[in-house]
Amino acid sequence: MSWKMGWKKGNESIKAGNFKCIFSYTFKEQFQHLSNFLMMEYSGFDRTNYPVLSVKEGYSQWATTYEETVQEEMDIRLLSKINSISWSKLNHALDFACGTGRIGAWLKLQAIDKIDGVDFTIEMLSKAREKNVYAELIHRDVSDTGLKAESYDLSIQVLADEHLSELSPLYIEASRITRKGGYFVIVGYHPFFLMNGLITHFHKESGEPVGIESHVHLFSDHIKAANKSNLTLLEMEEGIIDEAWLIKKPKWEKYRNWPVSYALVWQKK
Ligand SMILES: C[S@@+](CC[C@H](N)C(=O)[O-])C[C@H]1O[C@@H](n2cnc3c(N)ncnc32)[C@H](O)[C@@H]1O
Repeated sequence: MSWKMGWKKGNESIKAGNFKCIFSYTFKEQFQHLSNFLMMEYSGFDRTNYPVLSVKEGYSQWATTYEETVQEEMDIRLLSKINSISWSKLNHALDFACGTGRIGAWLKLQAIDKIDGVDFTIEMLSKAREKNVYAELIHRDVSDTGLKAESYDLSIQVLADEHLSELSPLYIEASRITRKGGYFVIVGYHPFFLMNGLITHFHKESGEPVGIESHVHLFSDHIKAANKSNLTLLEMEEGIIDEAWLIKKPKWEKYRNWPVSYALVWQKK
């Protein structure tokens, strides 16, 4: 459905300049449409001017070198700080946007019995298969996994939400497949860092830097999506560019103390 500028209260239409609202929306619906319309696009923040690839194309090209680039300080360090979850007591976990399987491997180390993974980039899934930590690997979109409802103790997504144009479909799917009392953990690239104009990117073999389509999601967007999905916030962590990070990437000194990643732990009501 397309949306046209203008307002309508009840059944009375109000002309706004040359625009006239032709749909019978309530004020609440009109407000929702307006906030979608005003959703922040990353392109307005970009300072890199790198060419940008679609998500599937980007990760199909990055798959072979992805693990050489990603810092454990970004995500594993935050996962290790979470104290609202007794990982070893969980039986069945789903790794959304599992990529090459870094997070599946970490979950296995936490002694979770059975881990499945979903991702829509075949080249990333092939790398994940080599790790031998997943019971099942599913080639699908995170918003539509086709998995049985309430079948997981834990669902988790790491470093992928900036690639989703909207958060709600992910939160709804995570809530659907997670059992009552189970957890949804999301770890991501901090919106502050993204809004500073540094898009998720990699370097081709030629050395050329390439961005991957990204979207800004504020923390209020997460909270709104979770509220609509029967999820309650248990815990939040933020990761900053600190000494441990700078030892590995000294060139990032200019970002010292900036928040670079976040982790949110939700519980299904
Ligand atoms: C930065 S990688 C993260 C991989 C892994 N979670 C990790 O932390 O190493 C992002 C992954 O998200 C996947 N992805 C992005 N959007 C997706 C979607 N809508 N459905 C399924 N997978 C998606 C990409 O294919 C890619 O493998």
